[in-house]
Amino acid sequence: MKKVIELQNIRRNFQVGDEIVHALRGISFTIYEGEFVTIMGTSGSGKSTLLNTLGCLDTPTSGEYFLDGISVRTMSKSARAILRNRKIGFVFQNYNLLPKTTAVENVELPLMYNPDINSAERKKRAIKALQDVGLGNRLEHKSNQMSGGQMQRVAIARALVNNPAVILADEATGNLDSRTSFEILVLFQQLHAEGRTIIFVTHNPDLIQYSSRNIRLRDGKVIEDSINKNIMSAAEALAAMPKPEDDE
Ligand SMILES: Nc1ncnc2c1ncn2[C@@H]1O[C@H](COP(=O)(O)OP(=O)(O)O)[C@@H](O)[C@H]1O
Ligand SMILES: [Mg+2]
Repeated sequence: MKKVIELQNIRRNFQVGDEIVHALRGISFTIYEGEFVTIMGTSGSGKSTLLNTLGCLDTPTSGEYFLDGISVRTMSKSARAILRNRKIGFVFQNYNLLPKTTAVENVELPLMYNPDINSAERKKRAIKALQDVGLGNRLEHKSNQMSGGQMQRVAIARALVNNPAVILADEATGNLDSRTSFEILVLFQQLHAEGRTIIFVTHNPDLIQYSSRNIRLRDGKVIEDSINKNIMSAAEALAAMPKPEDDE
């Protein structure tokens, strides 16, 4: 199996006044291609710090991080930015879409930094990614003309468009009602079934039944790392939920 992510004894300290906050206290794990990993933990356990590390947005105080076999520590800042753009698709709780910008334009964005892809190819790939997340009929809608669930689909299409090694999601269903959350979860399970590697950070313990593996953090340490042998179907859970009366 191919290693997509390997962390070796990652520590992250923050100096706050005279004190040192130990946000990550020696984290080690390996994530293989095709895994759907939830990272669970209460507030303050280190989830965001860990995700920022995985996303090459933050540099650990010590330890080694290999992304797709490449040591992130040894890279220059600009090389790291390119690596991040090519290898990682981000999905955030608040979608992070450009306002008053169409779905296609938002999804094209990560491809702008790639000189090998011209504008026609960019548009073609963006449309394909939007069709893949079920938004083929909303291509020209602007972000302010869409629902939360639709905006999150656009964000997922944007994360997919570069064909990244891994998708990092930070509380991706955190702003959505439970029905819409499950629709997004169905989409993540579809991506997992297609062989995508997904890391999904959440404080919601209900979600871990739907991933293939769960890593639990407490006080900056891994306190549990378990494979889920009985993955629940988000589609079935969704079908069993009551439909709102105004549903089309
Ligand atoms: N930039 C920072 N400066 C100082 N302390 C920080 C910083 N970021 C996080 N921390 C501290 O590190 C710990 C873990 O925070 P965080 O990773 O945000 O946890 P979570 O996302 O699980 O809520 C907390 O005690 C937090 O206060
Ligand atoms: Mg957080």
